[in-house]
Amino acid sequence: MPTTSLLHGDCLKVLPTLDVASHDLVVTSPPYNLGINYRSFDDTASRSDFLDWCRAWSAEIKRLLTDDGSFFLNVGAAPSNPLFPHQVLLALTEEFFVLQNTFHWIKSITIETRKGEQISAGHFKPINSKRYVNDCHEYVFHLTKTGNVPLDRRGAGVPYQDKSNIARWGHTGGVDKRCRGNTWFIPYDTIKSRDKDRPHPATFPIGLVEQCIHLHGKGRDTRLLDPFLGIGTSALAAKRQKIAHFTGIELDDHYLTVARERLEAPENQELF
Ligand SMILES: C[S@@+](CC[C@H](N)C(=O)[O-])C[C@H]1O[C@@H](n2cnc3c(N)ncnc32)[C@H](O)[C@@H]1O
Repeated sequence: MPTTSLLHGDCLKVLPTLDVASHDLVVTSPPYNLGINYRSFDDTASRSDFLDWCRAWSAEIKRLLTDDGSFFLNVGAAPSNPLFPHQVLLALTEEFFVLQNTFHWIKSITIETRKGEQISAGHFKPINSKRYVNDCHEYVFHLTKTGNVPLDRRGAGVPYQDKSNIARWGHTGGVDKRCRGNTWFIPYDTIKSRDKDRPHPATFPIGLVEQCIHLHGKGRDTRLLDPFLGIGTSALAAKRQKIAHFTGIELDDHYLTVARERLEAPENQELF
């Protein structure tokens, strides 16, 4: 029987109650220590306190993760604080994990076609600055215990643009799928009302979590954990991918209520 556990509390207290090696996939986005206005969490710690806090929950994630498990950590920066994701990464790789892959979650991009046409896609929130350009991406660090965990690259792949490559390259096995690479263009869903449709200051899109689930490659047998659940995006991805076991933890009772409502919402039942 599939299980979905949405747990209320401080993950530093809840994670120790979960069994060793009870999850094979962790996808999460912690607070970014950039002064974001969460309902309960104070996002203004000193950088060294914040990094110590990251070390504390990462030690727990390592304990809960199977040896062949994958931990996808989404972190972004502010233009004025560009070192932040790298500081978190250094703290976690000093002691606990190996950085196996780095993905770039692209939120907005402009490409120029060979015919010279410019196509812009995604959401672009302008900033008013003479110093900084718009920050249109966030990191997704893929952390593992060994640096040697196999991934289902083609499970998360894309069709070949030039179909003649399918026959030309033996490794394709005749299948029209290639590795997507480490740039993921995943725009936010367009919403009408922030308060109603996305009542949280820092969510990631369902598609980002689904991409991690596909790469992990264990399909429905996946046991997924998100210790910073927010309004339940990872739980929705787990439900949509029909994965067996999901555990989410959230400090704020209102966000957790919204997560439960989103999982039960009639319009979301149609997605699954
Ligand atoms: C970046 S948000 C995650 C948003 C989530 N990915 C989504 O799409 O809804 C981080 C969340 O961590 C929660 N949080 C902060 N400290 C926590 C803690 N100690 N234990 C559990 N949750 C915590 C915050 O309330 C916030 O909702």
